[in-house]
Amino acid sequence: MSVAPLAGPVAAGGEPTRGHVALRDVHLRFESGRQSIDAVQGFDLEVRPGEFVSLIGPSGCGKSTLLNVVAGFIAPTAGAALVDGEPIRGPGADRGMVFQQYSLFPWKTVRQNVEFGFKMKGVGRARREEAARTLLGIAGLLAFENHYPDQLSGGMRQRVGIVRALATSPRVLLLDEPFGALDAQTRAVMQQILTNMWQKLRISVLFVTHDIEEAIFLSDRIYVMTARPGRLKMMLPVPLPRPRDPAMTSSPQFMALRRTVSDLIREESLKAMGMELGDGLLDGLSIDARGKDLAAML
Ligand SMILES: Nc1ncnc2c1ncn2[C@@H]1O[C@H](COP(=O)(O)OP(=O)(O)O)[C@@H](O)[C@H]1O
Ligand SMILES: [Mg+2]
Repeated sequence: MSVAPLAGPVAAGGEPTRGHVALRDVHLRFESGRQSIDAVQGFDLEVRPGEFVSLIGPSGCGKSTLLNVVAGFIAPTAGAALVDGEPIRGPGADRGMVFQQYSLFPWKTVRQNVEFGFKMKGVGRARREEAARTLLGIAGLLAFENHYPDQLSGGMRQRVGIVRALATSPRVLLLDEPFGALDAQTRAVMQQILTNMWQKLRISVLFVTHDIEEAIFLSDRIYVMTARPGRLKMMLPVPLPRPRDPAMTSSPQFMALRRTVSDLIREESLKAMGMELGDGLLDGLSIDARGKDLAAML
């Protein structure tokens, strides 16, 4: 079976050449009435063709805002947002988006949901069915092609959502906390499926999450954001080999990375909660961590 609709970003030589995302000094200010909120300030980000990049940071730091800029749903107040060197002027089939909440058509079967993406691209009926079945096969969903969304588990629905986003053969896949509503076990399985699919498709991915292990397990590089207004706190490469497998999560390399990212995020989460690091709060936390009983301290 052919995977031709997905071959767009991959050159004859095999390395992806398209799907380069660049944010340059992006600012985002929301004006509502007299209030204005600086959501993101001076943000630089890059996703190279075929790369898996995660954006992580405390709640409200501007992750979804940045993803929406790349999706073309909102324009930056200042700075540049580019895909393959072209300014982003609005949503387009070259970028597929997957949200946390399921956005499938409940009246369509799994395959019809996926075919919808191909229809949008003007693919003919016979070709559509074949292409949808190919993608569903890669995602391990072929046995469910004639099911309706409400007959599926949350994990499966989200997988169909990803497959549908891939059906327009985007150069870039954008995911906004896609596994946030799933239980821990389903989430781990979904991460494995996503990383396997990504290795087959070699598409550029920008993945938003607040789950540290998820970001490390999936990514080539992680951008850690500061609390609002979102700036770049640190960019970390993830030097774990591919393919990724769950056993890696207990490797010393993985655990060291987790500690680094978790320290960065904790610092920012405390700031986001309006707490200063210098006011003794962290000292208090470390006393607690030394195992003293809370009641004895009060
Ligand atoms: N359309 C909007 N109008 C006003 N404020 C917004 C809008 N979208 C997001 N914000 C604000 O911008 C900040 C960043 O939001 P968001 O990108 O959703 O954060 P995250 O996804 O990291 O949790 C938040 O303070 C949020 O309230
Ligand atoms: Mg968000």
